[in-house]
Amino acid sequence: MRQHVNPLSHFFQLPLSLPSKSILFKNSHHPIHLDIGSAKGEFLIELAVKNPNWNFVGLEIRESLVSSSEKKRKQVGLQNLRFLYCNVNISLDEWLSDLDLEQLKRVSIQFPDPWFKRKHLKRRVLNKSLLYSIARSMSKDGELFIQSDIFKLIEYMSNVIDDSIYFDRKVFKGLKWLEQNPYQVSTDRELFVLKQNLPIYRAMYIRNSALFIN
Ligand SMILES: C[S@@+](CC[C@H](N)C(=O)[O-])C[C@H]1O[C@@H](n2cnc3c(N)ncnc32)[C@H](O)[C@@H]1O
Repeated sequence: MRQHVNPLSHFFQLPLSLPSKSILFKNSHHPIHLDIGSAKGEFLIELAVKNPNWNFVGLEIRESLVSSSEKKRKQVGLQNLRFLYCNVNISLDEWLSDLDLEQLKRVSIQFPDPWFKRKHLKRRVLNKSLLYSIARSMSKDGELFIQSDIFKLIEYMSNVIDDSIYFDRKVFKGLKWLEQNPYQVSTDRELFVLKQNLPIYRAMYIRNSALFIN
């Protein structure tokens, strides 16, 4: 299976209309946790089992991963979780605008594709435009959690967030980087990195009360 797709290719620039929350969820008013780049889906499956009063959405640009995640979800019989195929940089904004006020409580972006080469930097998933879509829809005190094993990438992501007025970085015990995953469930990539004993950089941001200005 190909490891990366180029999100800027013509094919992935076509907007997809994602099903509304009332089609996705029986209890469509429950708070929502969005995981961007949900890959094989194990992280959200575990969280959805543990948190029946939340709705979870995994967004993924590789269609085959969405199909296999959905298959696993159905086997477990989870009604509070859905995996959706899309390029978040193109299709997420419209879906977010359909949510109730205060409904988007958590967004996680974990170990996103690094796109190291300078000429590929525009392929990185977190950019100002995606951040603003999240900021516009997220409730006050909502959580934006990011983690990666690549320092240059997490530094870039935290700079994008720090440069906006909408999020405050949470500092734990005087430390800038969190030692543990706050959701106490590890992603596939996280487990792989932990096994190698390599460092992981994690940061939590909280949506502050700044009104969204377009
Ligand atoms: C390195 S993997 C990490 C997967 C998972 N979060 C983890 O920690 O194990 C990054 C995932 O993000 C997905 N992805 C990359 N760009 C995306 C985009 N623009 N929209 C949606 N998913 C994207 C990739 O296909 C890939 O599955």
